[in-house]
Amino acid sequence: MKDDPFLNTLLEGAIAAARLAGHHALANFARRQEAVSRYAHDVKLKLDEECQQIIQAELATRFPDHAIVGEEDATIGGRLGTGIEWVVDPIDGTVNFSHGLPFWCCSIAALQKGKTLVGVVYAPALDVCYTARLGGGATCNGETLHVSPIAELSQSMVLTGLDKNPGKDLPPLALFQATSQHVQKARILGSAALDLCRVAHGQADAYFETGIYIWDIAAARLIITEAGGQEEILERLDQGRLRFMASNGLIHAAYKTLLLDTLQKR
Ligand code: IPD
Ligand code: CA
Repeated sequence: MKDDPFLNTLLEGAIAAARLAGHHALANFARRQEAVSRYAHDVKLKLDEECQQIIQAELATRFPDHAIVGEEDATIGGRLGTGIEWVVDPIDGTVNFSHGLPFWCCSIAALQKGKTLVGVVYAPALDVCYTARLGGGATCNGETLHVSPIAELSQSMVLTGLDKNPGKDLPPLALFQATSQHVQKARILGSAALDLCRVAHGQADAYFETGIYIWDIAAARLIITEAGGQEEILERLDQGRLRFMASNGLIHAAYKTLLLDTLQKR
């Protein structure tokens, strides 16, 4: 798989699309508050939609037969059944972006039968581009990535996020509390895709979230495994929401046990 020309073509397309969208969002940073709709704990920005259109146009030009599923429109583009499906989150960390925090990214993955073949997570404001090809390793700005060597949960840094409907679903808070008690530090940074890449980079040791969607994780789950880590959908919830964890592999079993024990006790 290392030098598979088909995967290389997919990856080139994903990088090009992510860079076009990321640069558009950065160039239009002054418009970061322009909203299509606002919710209690979320916002949909005009730039979310514009970035998705840019990604869709680039992918459709390069791969006219492929299907495209995006956070801002779950039914767009392509012909289903062609085998390759692109899963796109045009801006992951939208709330961060709208406030001017630089921790946001464009996430693009090509899937076949639900398996990610290539993934790109590009964070323009941080100037980092994470990539992975199935069987071909993971990189950050061209440098090979490896997960951390931390083997004790008590020494670990764990990243997580809060569900967009925290009032409706309390497990995230219980899980955050339990996690905090057993790890060195738990953090909420606000972009699931970038959180996962930080685990792939060895800067954090695990990630967990309940209520995440496939477009949040489709690219970065491959970046994690190609960097030597482990990922797992623990449960499929309602409306496409997922209970998902990933880690450096070494603390995976211990952290999974902690999460499942906490959920069982509720
Ligand atoms: C959100 C971010 C956040 C996570 C949420 C996601 P969005 O994605 O990844 O970190 O906690 O669950 O929905 O809305 O910014 O694309
Ligand atoms: Ca997202």
